[in-house]
Amino acid sequence: MNTREIEDRYTLATYPKFPFALVRGVGSYVFDDSEKRYLDLYGGHAVSSLGHSHPRWVEAIAKQASTLDFYSNICYSPVRAEAAERVVRNSYSSMTGVYFCNSGAEANETALKIARKLTKRPHVVAMLDGFHGRTIAALSVTGVQKMRDAFPESLDRLTRWVPMASLGAIEAVEPSQIAAVILEPILSLGGVRMGNPEYYQGLRRWCTRNGVALIFDEVQTGNGRTGKWFVGQHWGVEPDIVTTAKAIGGGFPVGAVIANAWVAADVKSGDQGSTFGGAPMAAAAVAATYRVIEEEGLVDHVARRSTRVIARLRELMGPGRIRDVRGLGYLLGIECDLPGKEIQSRLLKEGVLVGISNHANTIRLLPPLTVSDAEWDSFLATFEKVLTSSN
Ligand SMILES: Cc1ncc(COP(=O)(O)O)c(C=O)c1O
Repeated sequence: MNTREIEDRYTLATYPKFPFALVRGVGSYVFDDSEKRYLDLYGGHAVSSLGHSHPRWVEAIAKQASTLDFYSNICYSPVRAEAAERVVRNSYSSMTGVYFCNSGAEANETALKIARKLTKRPHVVAMLDGFHGRTIAALSVTGVQKMRDAFPESLDRLTRWVPMASLGAIEAVEPSQIAAVILEPILSLGGVRMGNPEYYQGLRRWCTRNGVALIFDEVQTGNGRTGKWFVGQHWGVEPDIVTTAKAIGGGFPVGAVIANAWVAADVKSGDQGSTFGGAPMAAAAVAATYRVIEEEGLVDHVARRSTRVIARLRELMGPGRIRDVRGLGYLLGIECDLPGKEIQSRLLKEGVLVGISNHANTIRLLPPLTVSDAEWDSFLATFEKVLTSSN
């Protein structure tokens, strides 16, 4: 049996897959088992922030593996200390502490748990079309009805749904039983949709006025992807809790919950825990990822490069081609006349990996922060060809 047959035979059928096995990666490229090269503008789903197998990230993990492979949170760890300091310092100025876990869903579970304990209220406001992960509590605030309907015992009876970017809808919510508002500030799976700055500022004011914790799920928007370290920095809006994962470990499984002083003051020993959260190798991955982003100026690199890419994509707007370009930095949604799946498979044949979304005509670009102008130019030429070809 080949790799595909063995994997299909021995893993649960949870994922649709591309029909090839990837065996190695370097920088913005990955290679399959026939040595076909793909330009990775999907980043393994917004994960590979430094590109694939960045030498400084590889060195940090290898060094940690041969120095101290594992010890739990029962002891202090210099590398966890470095990771925590870098994450808190680069996040919002009101943030005081971080809790490390292993995934985005787990970070959201933790955020919902601590917000309910803090406010002593049961309900949570979440966005229609939002996505927060696959565990029961994360699913219960995920606004994709068909995902929840498949698991009818989720906790969504505790959720109040509002449409994204409607301040009126938030203001109509009776706040006395609301612990938190949770949102992806840019709905990524939902087609890369966002509000204007006044929306986020108004949301912040409503939460503050009503003693409600504002949770930004920055699993995708965090860690430099949008051209700021965290996305609220574009609008001068600070949440009470940030959840993040994906790119924070540059490819190593890490989740994080970052909290301001109001939230942190209520978090007590024993409130939450995770054997592997913030363990030495995970912490080494976070510290190395942040060190490289800081020292190579990647957040500014994303801001500069993406302005040019967005302008070039907008030049391709017009009948039969691109309808809209949305998003910030390296979290971009391109709405096309053709279905997203068709564009994705045409690009795949040309050796370019992109994502699709729950919006049928919108593809997503979630590439490494390191993608260069030359790599973008090669994508833009291929994309134009694919948009205008007849199959
Ligand atoms: C915005 C958002 N939140 C949460 C999650 C869940 O993260 P994980 O798959 O690490 O549990 C995802 C994953 O795609 C996500 O995009």
